[in-house]
Amino acid sequence: MSPKIDLLDSLSEIEQSALIGISRAVNPEELEALRISLLGRKEGKLSRILKGIASVESSERKLIGAEANRIKKVLTETLEIAQANFEANDKDNSKFLDVTLPGKKQWKGSEHPINCVIDEIWQIFRSMGFTRVRGPEIDSEWYNFEALNTPLDHPAADEQDTLYLKESGLLRSHTSPVQIRTLENHSPPIRVLAPGMVYRRDTYDATHTPAFHQIEGLVVDEGITFIDFKATLAEFSKRFWGAGTKVRFRPSFFPFTEPSAEVDVKRIVIRDGQEVETDWIEVMGAGMVDPNVLENVGYDPERYTGFAFGMGPGRMALLKYGISDLRMFSQNDVRFLSQLSDGPIR
Ligand code: DAH
Repeated sequence: MSPKIDLLDSLSEIEQSALIGISRAVNPEELEALRISLLGRKEGKLSRILKGIASVESSERKLIGAEANRIKKVLTETLEIAQANFEANDKDNSKFLDVTLPGKKQWKGSEHPINCVIDEIWQIFRSMGFTRVRGPEIDSEWYNFEALNTPLDHPAADEQDTLYLKESGLLRSHTSPVQIRTLENHSPPIRVLAPGMVYRRDTYDATHTPAFHQIEGLVVDEGITFIDFKATLAEFSKRFWGAGTKVRFRPSFFPFTEPSAEVDVKRIVIRDGQEVETDWIEVMGAGMVDPNVLENVGYDPERYTGFAFGMGPGRMALLKYGISDLRMFSQNDVRFLSQLSDGPIR
C-alpha cells in the first residue's frame, strides 16, 4: 500500500472515531481530553500527521494536507458545538430534568381565616377613609384601664381577668388602649382601625380562648355626632353581614364610652333553600367617646367628639361562616385553615 493510502485511511479512522468519541462524551472534561488527544500541539494524533506531512512526497502532500486540514476543521467545530451544549445544559439544567418522573406535591401557603375576616372588615372601613394603626401587646395599667376611664378597682382590672406580668405591665386585655396612643400621636381628624391580639385569663373552650383577636375603631374630630356613629356602624354591618341585614343599637355600658351601645344584627340566611331571618346577634361594643377619655389625653371635649367600637373577628368568623368551635382557629388543621383562602394545590 502506498503511504498515501495508508495516511488517508488513518485520517479517516481518526475522524470517525473522534466524531463517535465527541458524541459520547458525558462531560466537558472528557471533551477536553479528546481535544488534546486529537488536536493537542505535541501529542495530538492529527497534529502529528500534519507535522509528518513534510516527509510525504510532494505530489501527495497537497491531497493529504488538504484532507488533514478538513478533518481538523470538522473536529474543531464539532468540539466547539459539543462544548457549547454542555454550557447551555449547565445553565438550564435540562440535562438533569427527567420529565417522566412523577411530580412533587407543591404546597402553597394560605391566609388564616381570621386574617381573611380582618381583611374583609378592613376593606369596608378603608373605603370609608379609615387608616390602620397598631399598639403594643404589652402595655400598662394606665393605657389599658385608667386612661380609658376605667378605675383599677373595676372588675375588668381584676387579676382574675387580666394577665399581669411579673415585673410590671400587663398583656393588654383589649385593643382599646390603641385609642389612647392614637389620640396622643395623631391630631384630628382621626379615623382609624386597629386590629390586634388581646389576652385574658380565660378558659379554653368552644367559645373562649385566652388569646384572641380584636379590632378597635376610633373616630374623633370636631362635630362628630351620634348620627355619624350610627350611620357608620350600620353601613359597615350591612356590608359585612349582607344585604337585608337589620341593625340595632342596644343601650349598654362601657367605662370609656357615653352613651354606650351593643350593636346587634339580624341577618338573612338561606336555610333549606329558604331565606330566613336569624335571631338578633350581638356583634360589637361601641359608643360615643367619653369626655373623660378625651380629657385624659389633653383634648378639649367641648371642641372634639367622637365614637369608638370594638369587635372580635374570631367571633364574627364563627357567626358568618357557621364555625362551631373557636379552637379550630388555633389548631393546625390545614384543611380548615385554608378554606377562606386559595388553599393548597393538590
Ligand atoms: N374594649 C371592649 C372589650 O374588650 C370592647 C369595646 C366596647 C370597644 C366599646 C370599644 C367600645 O371601642 O366603644 O370588651
